Formats: sequence, C-alpha cells, structure tokens
Amino acid sequence: MRKKNRVLGILGNPLKQSMSPMVHNYWIKLYNLDNYYCKFQLEKIDQIKTAIRALDLQGLNVTIPYKKKIIKHLDKIDKTAKRLQAVNTIFNNKGVLEGYNTDVTGFLLGLKNIKKLNKKKPAIVLGAGGAAESVVYSLYLTGFKNIYITNRTKYKAQMIARKYKEVQAVKWIEYELVNNAGLIVNTTSLGMVGYPALPISLESVKKSTKVYDIVYNPLETKLIKDARKHKLEYVTGLSMFLGQAQESFRIWFNIKPSLSNYLIFKLKKILK
Ligand code: ATR
Repeated sequence: MRKKNRVLGILGNPLKQSMSPMVHNYWIKLYNLDNYYCKFQLEKIDQIKTAIRALDLQGLNVTIPYKKKIIKHLDKIDKTAKRLQAVNTIFNNKGVLEGYNTDVTGFLLGLKNIKKLNKKKPAIVLGAGGAAESVVYSLYLTGFKNIYITNRTKYKAQMIARKYKEVQAVKWIEYELVNNAGLIVNTTSLGMVGYPALPISLESVKKSTKVYDIVYNPLETKLIKDARKHKLEYVTGLSMFLGQAQESFRIWFNIKPSLSNYLIFKLKKILK
C-alpha cells in the first residue's frame, strides 16, 4: 500500500538560501498533513528517476541549475513547462513523473497586486537568464503587446525574443526605453545577496511606471528602494516566490494554501 506520509523537497545546487522548506513545512503543519519537505542538494541528477521512485517522493521543486536538465528524466510535462522548456515542480503521480512550471502563476500573482497596470504601455524586462522567459511569457499572456528584453549578453535576449512577435531584444539599459516604459521588471541576479546592485536610474521615469523586482533575497533591493524613493508603485520578489510555492503545493496536495499575514511576516523577518 502507498504510504500517506511521503517526503517532498527541493532539488538544486546550491540550496543554502532556499526558503522553500520553511514555507512548505509551514503549510504541511497548517493543514495537518503527515508529510515532510527537505533539501536535496545534488551534484548530479543522472539517477534522479530511480531515486524519486525508490524513495517514493510525492513531489519536488526544481531550481538552479536543474530546471532544464530535469526534463529528460520526466514522463510528462505540462503545456507551460513545454513552452518554456523549464520545470520547477515535479509531481510523482502513482509512479508517473509529471513536470510543471509554476513560475508563471507566481509572477502573475505579483502582477495582479499592481493597481493601475497599463498593458498598452511598453514593458521592459531586464535579464535573459533562467527566470526571464517565464516573465516574458507571463507578460505575453497578460496581453502586453510591446515587450522589450534587455540583457548584458544580447544574444540571450535575442533567443527569447525570436519566439514572440510581441518581444524585441534591445541594447542593455537604453534610457529612452526605460524612461517610457509602463513596467520595468528585473529578472537578473543583480541586487541579490552577493551581487552588485542593478545599474539603473529611475530618475527620469514617468510617475506612472511600475517596478517589479523578482529578486526576493533581500526583499529591499536597491531597485525597490529607488522605486519607493521616487514614489513608484512596486512589487517585490516575495509575491512571485510565494505564488510559485502556492501553486506547487496545490499540484501536490490539491489544496491552495493561504498566504497568511503570519507567514509573510515570518518571511519578511528572515529576508529583511
Ligand atoms: P538565473 O537562472 O537565476 O536567471 P542565470 O541564468 O545565470 O541565472 O541569469 C542571470 C541573469 O543575470 C542573466 O541575465 C545575466 O546576464 P548575462 O546573460 O549577460 O550573464 C544577469 N547578470 C548577472 N550578473 C550580471 C552583471 N554583473 N551585469 C549584468 N547582468 C548580469
């Protein structure tokens, strides 16, 4: 018989900074589930399918550097994961390993928090790494028709842009575009603990410009501080982080967990 109290976890390397165990174990306790969520920091994932089955894991989150590499080890992947060629959630459905991408749901949750979002204005996405395409795809789904993507290494931006007629790759931080954007999204690692700040000035942007930083550690990046200084509406990376976690939990347990003030308070205290 299949055990009920199964283990879940996060697969990646490194995982030192990951907040996922704290959040999922909080929800597991809140909903009186007999599960446990732990870290699987692996150097290699060649035998991952055997490992998931042998341990009868209920599910996994997948993070850097395995979001793409995991795909060939899975039995099925959903439409979004296929489109983005990236999986951040695995559900072990009676031995069938299903891959999902909940980063889009996560990003959209944060976007919904913006009160006066003008989809008719251009959006500018900074960065073209692992997280950028889920952001671009989310903006495309939301109905943005004019999306600029800018990256230090331009060809990576071009690789994403060529998949969408609404997206154009442009020179790294071009102020003519930044100052006329309705929405600025940071998907680079800049601003994260251990990285320098994003070298962008919000000095001349329009007052109606919205700023969304998907970096959540720290919560108060230089970009967010600048947005506040200029009285711009902003969203921190906590929304996307919690949104993707909430959607993963729903896939595993068929419960949409609450984003309680207590949980948010706890996370804010840790992340500062
Ligand atoms: P992730 O999976 O977290 O997105 P990644 O794929 O390595 O990580 O992407 C990191 C992003 O931050 C990239 O867009 C990267 O730009 P490059 O493609 O030019 O490397 C960007 N980034 C990291 N350090 C940067 C820096 N010092 N200046 C500008 N961009 C930087």
